Amino acid sequence: MSVLCLPGLIDPHVHVRDLGQAHKEDWDSATAAALAGGITTVLAMPNTQPPIVDAAALTAYEQAAQARARCDYGLYLGAGPGNVGGLAALAPRAAGLKLYLDATFGDLKMDTLDLLAAHCAAWPADAPLLAHAEGNNLAAAILAAHLAGRAIHIVHVSRRDEIELIRAAKARGFAVTCEVCPHHLFLTLAGSGLPAGYVEVRPRLAAAADAAALWANLDVIDCFATDHAPHTRAEKEGPNPPPGYPGLETALALWLTAVHQGRLTLEDIIARMHTGPRRLFNLPEQPDTWIEVDPEQEWTPRGAGLFSRAGWTPFEGWPLRGRVTGVTLRGQRVYDGQAVLAPPGAGRNVRSRP
Ligand code: DOR
Ligand code: ZN
Repeated sequence: MSVLCLPGLIDPHVHVRDLGQAHKEDWDSATAAALAGGITTVLAMPNTQPPIVDAAALTAYEQAAQARARCDYGLYLGAGPGNVGGLAALAPRAAGLKLYLDATFGDLKMDTLDLLAAHCAAWPADAPLLAHAEGNNLAAAILAAHLAGRAIHIVHVSRRDEIELIRAAKARGFAVTCEVCPHHLFLTLAGSGLPAGYVEVRPRLAAAADAAALWANLDVIDCFATDHAPHTRAEKEGPNPPPGYPGLETALALWLTAVHQGRLTLEDIIARMHTGPRRLFNLPEQPDTWIEVDPEQEWTPRGAGLFSRAGWTPFEGWPLRGRVTGVTLRGQRVYDGQAVLAPPGAGRNVRSRP
């Protein structure tokens, strides 16, 4: 077996769920899942319970992560009607500010152009600003950020018209970057085979032509993120299934399978899961940190065997090729291919000063 050594991967889009929704996931289980997937840094979204929209909530989540995270982490703040201008002072403690312009899980959706423009102007220009912005909202977000003289990062791009708009904006010199998620490249609405409830995700799965356009525009895609969004099987099978898929433990293997298929190179993966996110989110180096991968190992993900509390995966039973066999974080063996060895509390906040 020839083992590949890759840098510790960074996932800039993870829903950890602690504090109020720990039955779905918490810092302990989310970061165990991350390490098993070769990810040594997770940046956590603010649509939590309570939402991370002020100093008190940020402090509570910092404390929870410090106590329970097994890998390194950062925390995003969420923009809303009540916190324009009040967040800038918290920027040094945050991974970035997230704008929710389209409907998804949680209550952070912002509806007015006024609010969008105000947050673009008030958030420090050198701190990451991210938007969930689909369709027309994508054009609004790119323009509002541009007029405020700042960069913006578009999360989970899913459609042809959107990636083409981003390509055009980049070509004109707009400071826009973007990420895509495995489910929008490997699954389509018509072809996923996922039962109702399980198929729900935002942005929704799209058409084969949309997935093809994402593959065709890889050169304008800065990061691969998971949008790891765990919900339990009971919730997915219930009357109001929440949107979202777990993804931390399958992402790298899906991309490695694409390398075998000739659709991607290893360098493409490293650029989008390490170098790109490290630069965009201004992350510190993790010294003496690497992951070991057996690129030939064939395996099939099983929801029941995941570290994530979700207990299911949209890629159940898929024949994948390439698997994480070990992770070393700051000189400590933290995953051995079977067990997560890092204890809760071993992770560091990427925004804490050494
Ligand atoms: O499907 C999704 N679920 N998309 C998001 O943007 C949020 C996420 C969640 O938090 O469950
Ligand atoms: Zn998300």
